Amino acid sequence: MDPKPVLALARVLPDAVEARAARDYNVRPAPVDHPPLGGDALVAQAAGADGLLVAPGNAVTAAVIGALPDSLRVIATFSVGFDHIDLDAARARNLIVTNTPDVLTDATADIAMLCLLGAARRAGEGEALMRAGTWAGWTPTHMMGTQVTGKRLGIVGMGRIGRAVAKRARAFDMTIHYHDRTPLPPDQAQGAVHHDTVEGLLPHCDVLSLHCPATPATTGLMNAARIALLPRGAILVNTARGPVIDDAAVIDALKRGHLGAAGLDVYTGEPDVHPDYRILPNTFLLPHLGSATIETREAMGFRALDNLDAVLLRGEAPGNRVA
Ligand code: DGY
Repeated sequence: MDPKPVLALARVLPDAVEARAARDYNVRPAPVDHPPLGGDALVAQAAGADGLLVAPGNAVTAAVIGALPDSLRVIATFSVGFDHIDLDAARARNLIVTNTPDVLTDATADIAMLCLLGAARRAGEGEALMRAGTWAGWTPTHMMGTQVTGKRLGIVGMGRIGRAVAKRARAFDMTIHYHDRTPLPPDQAQGAVHHDTVEGLLPHCDVLSLHCPATPATTGLMNAARIALLPRGAILVNTARGPVIDDAAVIDALKRGHLGAAGLDVYTGEPDVHPDYRILPNTFLLPHLGSATIETREAMGFRALDNLDAVLLRGEAPGNRVA
């Protein structure tokens, strides 16, 4: 009898992570990475498994959870976000769900700064010009963007990633304003100005960066009414989740110039991207790269395995339980 628990992978993971998994588990590798397993295929992948490792893109719906085998004890997601998993359905089945916070904070904050700078300094347009071979040369007025240094950065969601973005923005002499349900203690706030409401925050933002989770309460958070509260020409950065912004409202504001630019790493309905984002000149677009460094992706995988190990190898509570 094989004493190792069965671990079903719903995604192809970095080599070092798959190697560690194979050391401790009877691993069922993911048959495909794209499109991500979902529905019946995801259920079939989990047949007879003790643990299931998923990631954003694997829709772990109530229907999927209802059909998962009785053998399954834990679902570990290779992500900090868990909006792709129906936690209520998991709780109803006594399934443990874990995520991978902390280890991707710096990488994601770096990408938020890249989106901020890319949008403000028209990096997408500039790169496209260079690749097209149509640059006519330096002129005093060519491709002028918006200065970031000394501007006001508004942050919605001052958790780990929000605070890491604030830390980076301080190096650009940006003034930090933020909204979070809980104000930070002064030693952590480091002068950042707390606003009780998103509406109270928005008029103080030359740049707005979103770092809240995707929940029913944050769906469409940046709608037309709230965008109107931003100063004209403000820059929007979204590295959180696509549904946190109302695409139609953001696109309309970008076309009118009320939003000066947007730097986006996440989208509603990924990998689909609203076609207007691709056409508009004042967008800087990345393909959900927030955590995409080798170091971070390995750390995420090891963290997911740490959580699985706690439950399946040692019978302990996992460090990062979300359900
Ligand atoms: C996460 O961990 O939720 C990220 O979006 C994946 O990069």
